[in-house]
Amino acid sequence: MSQPLIELQNLTKYFDISKTAKLHAVDGVSLTINQGETLGVVGESGCGKSTLGRTVLKLHEPTDGKIIFDGKDITNYRKGQIHKIRQDMQMIFQDPYSSLNPRMSVQDLIAEPLLINKVCKDKREVFDKVSELMETVGLAERLSSAYPHELDGGRRQRIGVARALALNPKFIVCDEPVSALDVSIQAQILNLLMDLQDERHLTYMFITHDLSVVRHISDQIAVMYLGRCVELCSSKELFKNPLHPYTKALLSAIPVPSIEMRDKKIEVIKGEVTSPVNPKPGCRFAARCPLASDECRGTDIPFEEIEPGHFVSCCKVKK
Ligand SMILES: Nc1ncnc2c1ncn2[C@@H]1O[C@H](COP(=O)(O)OP(=O)(O)O)[C@@H](O)[C@H]1O
Ligand SMILES: [Mg+2]
Repeated sequence: MSQPLIELQNLTKYFDISKTAKLHAVDGVSLTINQGETLGVVGESGCGKSTLGRTVLKLHEPTDGKIIFDGKDITNYRKGQIHKIRQDMQMIFQDPYSSLNPRMSVQDLIAEPLLINKVCKDKREVFDKVSELMETVGLAERLSSAYPHELDGGRRQRIGVARALALNPKFIVCDEPVSALDVSIQAQILNLLMDLQDERHLTYMFITHDLSVVRHISDQIAVMYLGRCVELCSSKELFKNPLHPYTKALLSAIPVPSIEMRDKKIEVIKGEVTSPVNPKPGCRFAARCPLASDECRGTDIPFEEIEPGHFVSCCKVKK
């Protein structure tokens, strides 16, 4: 049995917009990620995926709830303490171009985390470690003095992966790491991430707005809607037996490359997106949900285990 590496209990992050207005970016998310496994986090733009990832890494201070990392409650860790465990928790970004300093060469970019954290004893060791990391992520040695603008998106993302790996982390939040890449290159980066996971027993939170990307790489998938986790189960179960109306709509929007399925109806989600600022109690999806009725509004809907390992927050789904 795998041990949990990350446990989130009611994790909440509100942003203060004004004295009275709070934007509920992440609202009471509870979930577990086991060591060596991948949790896919999906949902449309603005639903709080990046904020969730950043809050788990304590790049945002949580408003409420708990973060347990490797058995330790890190929720209230302050700067010095968090600095130590930061090495174990890293992030890969969507757009390596904007997260990489354009004036630094490949070699300097990969050396940077090693130098900042003073993990090598001399220049020689830094050089060797950089060469090893470049090989690990599939960057040819001749590129070591190239600059980011001279490389294609896939290679730039390989630099991002090498930087994340430099300190030998246990956990990596991958925030839309392939969304800006061509489809053929997406597959290469996904394969690289999966190989690295096998070799190094890494644990991932893999964030994407595209459900089809996480299908094969995720053990569990969490579906988010306006700050809430509305459904959570294994990847296999989610594709076989989606329960939340929002998940069903997301699934129906995935293109299918088969002729028999060509006439499949895509459920278009109609209606206005509820505002995340001071939202009223009740289901956040109710305004757009074809099944919504009065019972969906007024009180918050519990996140319940409907079947073993399958959690959903919807009052229309009965045990
Ligand atoms: N630093 C911030 N200050 C205020 N609001 C923010 C901040 N970061 C994100 N938000 C808001 O929080 C919500 C969730 O954003 P985000 O986590 O980036 O969503 P996603 O990654 O799913 O697109 C959005 O409404 C966004 O405008
Ligand atoms: Mg985002």
